[in-house]
Amino acid sequence: MKKNLLPLLLIFLLILQGCNTLQRSAAPYTAEHAMVVSARPEASALALETIRNGGNAFDAMVVTHLTLAVAYPFAGNLGGGGFVVYRMADGEKGSLDFREKAPAAAHRDMYLDAEGNVIPGKSTLGATAAGVPGSLKGLSEAHARFGKLPFHELLDPAIALAENGVIITEKQASTLNRYRDLIVEVNGEETLFAQNLKAGDTLRQPALANTLKTIKKEGVDAFYNGSIAATLADFIQEQGGYITREDLKNYDVAWREAVFFSYRDLEVISMAPPSSGGITLAQIMKMVEPFSIREFKHHSPEMVQLLVEAEKRAFADRNHYLGDPDFVTIPDDILLSEAYLKDRMASFEFGTPTPSTEIARGEINFAESMETTHYSIVDDQGNAVSVTTTLNGAYGSKLFCDELGFFLNNEMDDFSAKPGVPNMFGLTGAEANSIAPGKRMLSSMTPTIVEKDGKLAMVIGTPGGSTIITSVLQTILNVYDFDMNMQEAVDAGRFHHQWKPDVIRMEPGLFPRSLIRKLERMGYTINQEDNRIIGKVDAILVREDGTLEAGADKRGDDAAKGY
Ligand code: GLY
Repeated sequence: MKKNLLPLLLIFLLILQGCNTLQRSAAPYTAEHAMVVSARPEASALALETIRNGGNAFDAMVVTHLTLAVAYPFAGNLGGGGFVVYRMADGEKGSLDFREKAPAAAHRDMYLDAEGNVIPGKSTLGATAAGVPGSLKGLSEAHARFGKLPFHELLDPAIALAENGVIITEKQASTLNRYRDLIVEVNGEETLFAQNLKAGDTLRQPALANTLKTIKKEGVDAFYNGSIAATLADFIQEQGGYITREDLKNYDVAWREAVFFSYRDLEVISMAPPSSGGITLAQIMKMVEPFSIREFKHHSPEMVQLLVEAEKRAFADRNHYLGDPDFVTIPDDILLSEAYLKDRMASFEFGTPTPSTEIARGEINFAESMETTHYSIVDDQGNAVSVTTTLNGAYGSKLFCDELGFFLNNEMDDFSAKPGVPNMFGLTGAEANSIAPGKRMLSSMTPTIVEKDGKLAMVIGTPGGSTIITSVLQTILNVYDFDMNMQEAVDAGRFHHQWKPDVIRMEPGLFPRSLIRKLERMGYTINQEDNRIIGKVDAILVREDGTLEAGADKRGDDAAKGY
């Protein structure tokens, strides 16, 4: 090569690199013994400290959850619910469902007017939107079965954080400002979060500290059948909501058989209904498995199209068949059978979209909020927990109990407020997810653990409503099919299709124009406006030599801490 062509070649290579959607990240953060990855550095650090002080992954779960309730009121919570998928060092695996429940006064048409139309805001804003919270019962049950340190000691980090204060970040200030008017609309000018918080300000939460102190002293029973329960139920009733003292007293969690499936040489463990996460993730991965996605370039038209078409088919099933298994029969054997999934993909052709209208199943379009949070923990014994928890919307229903210091969820909006027509199983379209007293609303939360060669290989999850499932999917594939490290896999651009609407949502600026043009030429509609970001994945990869590798999503303030 002539010497004077070298600079040109270098410039050309740099341009090419700029077009590549995979930005190689700096070396990922690693640790030898234990790691916590969550939405806030304080939560990750305090939970790691718990492990260093002799606690295990479940003790760290309690600390992460409670400190997120203080440092990340956007989604961290006492007033919400969630799911944990775990894998013990000895290989024992399982899951706990601490999803909220509909109160006893709930009924199928509670969010419809006399004409049968959905009443705007009733299932999203204020007291009428709240389901019976499950987080504290979930923490105490998980801890009672697997924790090592005394539960009351695990309250201390969150109490101190609430008393000493949390430093508001740029991102936090911007979300608080965005939602302040709604918070004031629901709670009035005097509420804690009516103040104009700026980056660098310290937010102290004495009422929340007191609530946590009561729980420390009286146990979580105070929240479900004691002084906190009385204050909370009376407050919700005064605000026109449905939850009563009896609802709190009757709330229970459920240990559930997780969803297990294989993908290539991996074993995947994920959440079963009432989360749709595990079944839908399994359907998509099993539908794409026969196509050897490895042979395509990352974010090539073929790769994107294959995932999108599998996603459409899985979400059509998801919307129709899935709901609370304590109330509906879910044909999971069929939905996950090889023959069924092969048949589902029989109409798939490279280069040609299958219109969503030609993919059978109900007509219900669901919309779940993006504002949830996930944390992944591996302790120094090799126990792993994957926890996704939510208030549903940002700051949930926006209803803030100033006396107790926390937001209430608006999880009732995850039910289908207006079910449709009957199906072959005698269920009506989305009837599976219709409202009933004591029922849990369908979720997309996908706390997941991956095993390779019988060993712990990955702990992963994310917020993002319906995009949770496709974000977890892409991150796993990024590592195992596209050979990325954990941080690169988390950083890579994400896309999403959920059957209806028939559009591919893509994170803006992270996909080459040539890809978008090719997909559009095939007939796909691309939307890069509605989702500035898709998911905020927090994950831990266990390397072959046992080193833990973090993926903390730069889309938020997320941080990994390990030792
Ligand atoms: N509220 C979001 C979810 O449960 O998927």
